[in-house]
Amino acid sequence: MQAATAFDNVQPMSGILKALRALADPTRLRLAALLGSDELSVNELQEITSLGQSRISTHLGQLQEAGLVQSRREGKRTFYRLNKNGDKSTMEFVDFAIRGGRELPEHSADAVNLRRILGLRREQAQVYFNQVAGRFDRSYGPGRSWQAFGHLLLRIIPPLEIADLGSGEGLLSELLARGAKRVIAVDNSEKMVTFGAEKAKKNGLKNLEFRLGDLETPPISPASVDLVILSQALHHAATPSTAIASAHRILRTGGQIMILDLLEHDFEKARELYGDRWLGFKTSDLHRWLENAGFKKIELSVVAREEQPPHFETLLARAEK
Ligand SMILES: C[S@@+](CC[C@H](N)C(=O)[O-])C[C@H]1O[C@@H](n2cnc3c(N)ncnc32)[C@H](O)[C@@H]1O
Repeated sequence: MQAATAFDNVQPMSGILKALRALADPTRLRLAALLGSDELSVNELQEITSLGQSRISTHLGQLQEAGLVQSRREGKRTFYRLNKNGDKSTMEFVDFAIRGGRELPEHSADAVNLRRILGLRREQAQVYFNQVAGRFDRSYGPGRSWQAFGHLLLRIIPPLEIADLGSGEGLLSELLARGAKRVIAVDNSEKMVTFGAEKAKKNGLKNLEFRLGDLETPPISPASVDLVILSQALHHAATPSTAIASAHRILRTGGQIMILDLLEHDFEKARELYGDRWLGFKTSDLHRWLENAGFKKIELSVVAREEQPPHFETLLARAEK
């Protein structure tokens, strides 16, 4: 059942006379006093007052009929609270009556129990997070995804001109295009380029352009981009060192290359299953190719390891022209 967000079942606030009749009963006055400080469910009211459920429901119905109480559904539960939207004179009367209700013998016990119930409610909200702390980042959380984090992080980067080489359909290119000045996605598969271009158009990304071409000879002018990305693409190149040298050529001075690829592995089936040419790379080889191409400030690290066999590991290489 969908949770209602706004208070419903609101009767227009009746006049002072109707409020007077509703609050003449000490139990209803007691309930109204409790609902004046917080919204509460029937169960919670039961715990606070030790009154029977049907008695509470009956009185709530009468208070609601008089327009003094409003209700809100949340999943299977209904919460009640004092209707504070009445006309001024009725509100003044209700306020006055509730102040009088503090003289009821049950008032002090009700106040203590109310604090306890509200404390319990707060604790329950924390129970889940206390339970999952320590494994939260590895467990499922509704709406939490790397793609969503990517959207957030990519809006932080400055508006760069970016080349995404071996872009595929453009999952990353599209994310980048949200914050970048311009993204040029290059792929040598005609179908990937057509599909990616149509998707970018449908998503209104005018700054994302798909080009058909090889990542070893990208169809991009020399010294024209600020960032070159090779995400799981380099292991498809015939000569990876050539692709890295080409990346250097199309970068402006001070621009950066970012490579996400697999650390060397021995899962031969990757050639057949994923069309891979190289079974990942040694960090030493990547470092040498970057250095030979003229890159400086080279950084290499393993940033992820898959939990399932064959436990692929992802390398991130970053360097500056
Ligand atoms: C594993 S996908 C990676 C796609 C994307 N970069 C990503 O991370 O989601 C590899 C892509 O590289 C493209 N590709 C393979 N060899 C290429 C080459 N020599 N030049 C350009 N693209 C190439 C493939 O068509 C495929 O779309």
